[in-house]
Amino acid sequence: PLPIAVLVSGSGSNLQSIIDRIEDGALDAEIKLVVSNKSDAYGLERARKHGIATKVLLHTDYDSREAFDTAMVQAINEAGVDKDGAVVMAGFMRIVTSVFLGAFVNRVINIHPALLPSFTGVCGQGDAADYGVKISGATVHFVDEQMDHGPIIIQAAVPCQPGEGGDALGSRILKLEHRIFPQSLQWLADGRLEIDGRFVRLKPADTPVADQP
Ligand code: GAR
Repeated sequence: PLPIAVLVSGSGSNLQSIIDRIEDGALDAEIKLVVSNKSDAYGLERARKHGIATKVLLHTDYDSREAFDTAMVQAINEAGVDKDGAVVMAGFMRIVTSVFLGAFVNRVINIHPALLPSFTGVCGQGDAADYGVKISGATVHFVDEQMDHGPIIIQAAVPCQPGEGGDALGSRILKLEHRIFPQSLQWLADGRLEIDGRFVRLKPADTPVADQP
């Protein structure tokens, strides 16, 4: 199994979808550690319920982003995840620096609740709803040094209803997130994702799969 660390700041429903796919055998990964920068993140509770190790690192305890990232790298390495594993940002509301990315080159993935490059930031769902777009969705991408910017692995779209607001739209987007995030991780675990500049190519599977995009 692919050793992974999952970073959360909140509810952790994406973490739950990853746990569920691992437990039902659809995802060949093992969560070695769940890290949160919020001590009351419900994602920590979800991890504990499944016997997964957790760690709280408060960014307010560190002088700089780099110092915080160094502590995260150390905790993740100690849990058994290195550059051959993967780090999954599942609702982690912090920007990571090159200190972090350098320890896991091309192995950090993030999910964002909008169709990037539109509506980056902390409220992709609400910003899209308020803008009046007719289609929004979710994006899974490799993380680079710019926020919500790295090469895109997969996107999924939903139609938007006029005036429905960010909460209603967000809950429909979340359902998509729970499908495409574990799927992306399985592609990574299978070594099928090839990065070429901005492009991510999905290499053919060794064995036939029913889940080609
Ligand atoms: C998800 O919608 C995720 O896409 C979003 O936070 C939510 C976390 O939900 N992430 C971002 O907005 C990152 N900029 P969860 O804690 O239930 O997985």
